[in-house]
Amino acid sequence: MTEQLRPDGSLRHLLTLEGLSRPQLELLLERAQHLVRPLGARAAMSQALAGATVANLFTEPSTRTRVSFELAAKRLGAHVVNLEMQLSSRVKGESMLDTVYTLESLHVDAFVIRDAQAGVPQLVADHVAPHVSVLSAGEAHLSHPTQGLLDALTIYQRKQRFAGLAVAIVGDIRHSRVARSNWHALRTLGVTDLRIVAPPALMPEAHEFAGATRCSDFSAGIDGADVVMMLRIQKERMDQANLPDGARYFAAWGLTGARLKEARPDAIVMHPQPMNRGIEIAPEVADGPQSVIRDQVRNGVAVRMAVLAEVLGTRAGST
Ligand code: NCD
Repeated sequence: MTEQLRPDGSLRHLLTLEGLSRPQLELLLERAQHLVRPLGARAAMSQALAGATVANLFTEPSTRTRVSFELAAKRLGAHVVNLEMQLSSRVKGESMLDTVYTLESLHVDAFVIRDAQAGVPQLVADHVAPHVSVLSAGEAHLSHPTQGLLDALTIYQRKQRFAGLAVAIVGDIRHSRVARSNWHALRTLGVTDLRIVAPPALMPEAHEFAGATRCSDFSAGIDGADVVMMLRIQKERMDQANLPDGARYFAAWGLTGARLKEARPDAIVMHPQPMNRGIEIAPEVADGPQSVIRDQVRNGVAVRMAVLAEVLGTRAGST
């Protein structure tokens, strides 16, 4: 199995946040923060990756992640190719690897991969040439490392610390790669009061999320929280028979203004999107003063620029 770190400790692939050290995460966040610009200002740009080519291989739907990886690469001067991967033409890893080999011959330097099947980013990382990097843009229900980083950056921008924060992740934790990557990121960065708040059917297996507090009472779970992160019901990963009814779910588990009062008055509200307004979150909360959901999107480009620069930086532009 190919490691995501090079022998010198630098990042070659980003497949998971698991195993990355606190200084490594902090460095990526610090670099990303330098690339954040206020809305209305021109986006940060450089030619750091001039001459490099990045391919987006997404076999699951995506709006923010795909567009922000594309903008991130372009704003660093790289070329980008977006492959419209037909789900039907992909039979397990085989055809994915053929695609990868083809693109490698065309001088692609980095593959950004989103796939519903566990293990695909690692499979590709195991087969690419030594100069090529693989970045996961979401792997099954397991991990979404750049989302974990951009969420950590968003929290830090508002709270200026991780230690001492109470962070509640609420909703369909069981099927959420976002929750898993946030758990890796936040505990490594020093959050000790991490709560996973979900109805019993949406709780993860008992061996997962070590160190987090499990709570199936919404009010108790967000009581005094500094951060309330809402998650979408991952319908695509659920047996249709088990799908909760939208109105009933909202009544029990939707974040409304009244419920948000259980958290700290200065709590921030997060959501990785896409949002089901009126199911896991009330529209007035999603658009309200405590929401940082749009900051999350903006930070996504900065984080992906920092990651791309880190994995490709040393070679890009060499002739
Ligand atoms: C998430 C994903 O795809 O994992 N979206 C995203 O990348 N921001 C969350 C989701 O689909 O609910």
